[in-house]
Amino acid sequence: MVRVLVIGAAGFIGFRFSQHLRRANHIVYGTIRNSAKENLLLANEIFPIIGEVESKDNTTPAWIEAIKTHNIDVVVDLTPILNTNEAILQPLIRVSKERQALGLPKLGYIYCSGMWCYGSGYEPTSDLSPAGVKTSRHQPPAIIHSRPEVEHQVVASWEHLTAAVVRPCHVYGGTGKDWDLYFAQIYTEVQKGSTKLTIQANPDTSPGLIHVEDIASALVAAVEKLELVAGRKDQYPVFDVSTSHESLAFVFRRFAEEVGFSKGGQIDFVGVPTGASLSDLYHQGFSTSINTGSTRARTLLGWAPTKAPGFAAGMHIYAKAWVVGFLERQEKAKGGQVKTLFT
Ligand SMILES: NC(=O)c1ccc[n+]([C@@H]2O[C@H](COP(=O)([O-])OP(=O)(O)OC[C@H]3O[C@@H](n4cnc5c(N)ncnc54)[C@H](OP(=O)(O)O)[C@@H]3O)[C@@H](O)[C@H]2O)c1
Repeated sequence: MVRVLVIGAAGFIGFRFSQHLRRANHIVYGTIRNSAKENLLLANEIFPIIGEVESKDNTTPAWIEAIKTHNIDVVVDLTPILNTNEAILQPLIRVSKERQALGLPKLGYIYCSGMWCYGSGYEPTSDLSPAGVKTSRHQPPAIIHSRPEVEHQVVASWEHLTAAVVRPCHVYGGTGKDWDLYFAQIYTEVQKGSTKLTIQANPDTSPGLIHVEDIASALVAAVEKLELVAGRKDQYPVFDVSTSHESLAFVFRRFAEEVGFSKGGQIDFVGVPTGASLSDLYHQGFSTSINTGSTRARTLLGWAPTKAPGFAAGMHIYAKAWVVGFLERQEKAKGGQVKTLFT
């Protein structure tokens, strides 16, 4: 039994992961930024810690206090913030040094990164390949430009932290809001009766994909194997996790059909916007093709994913789950109640 603090416990990955940790009988504390989701965590046997990762008034953030008060063994970071080093890594190193000075074990830390770090390409690669450095074949999309450096700092922290990086591919399944970028447009147009869809994507994009249950179980495996795979200079504790590589165009077609678009209907892919707005950058990230496996995660972490054969093949399940989440998000934004599905 490990005492784990999940930073971002109510997020898409963080909530499933926290539930998986409880299923494996670990003690789970989870951060949320306000009290709205406190009961959700409590009802799922997760102790809520409320607050931002960085306090605004120079006081010690609640999650750092929690690490000390509750003798946390491993911190898992699921925030998408850009200044991870200053906001999370360095404070953790300070706490861990205090423990080391007392002869206690180093604090564990797992950073959830992402496979966009490789940049876009079709060549086979692996988690031992350089990502986001000068010698890399491709450079990461601008939206996550700082992430490879964070990964590097995490790996370099081995003297003071038992630290690892887990790199999921694009996550699907459940109500995940990441896919809103494209699915919201497709769904809305199909609902309006459109017989032709125009999508801002490259038809030849082939992303790596992973179901949210499988990234959750990969993170649990990393928590449980952390002491074996990290904390020493001669280790390279970076683990890619993916379960399929699929045509993005086919994923979109299958989604469109599942929400009512005619089979074989016309879909035009017009390429990705090249601008620098957040939406443009996100479209560019979405068009990242990846060809990597998860051999080291399977062998070293003992990770055994369960959600074969993939996103497009299971779209009859996943489209409905996404629609429910999308309608809920829309109604929440309006302050109302969700009434119907596919109406
Ligand atoms: N989803 C994917 O396809 C995917 C793929 C590869 C990598 N990743 C990475 O995996 C991580 C989790 O992704 P996700 O899809 O689960 O994202 P998400 O649903 O947006 O969850 C992010 C979590 O981080 C919390 N958070 C954000 N900023 C924070 C701050 N300043 N202080 C405290 N908490 C903060 C959020 O809290 P609130 O609940 O208060 O918003 C939320 O719980 C991210 O780093 C993401 O880049 C995701």
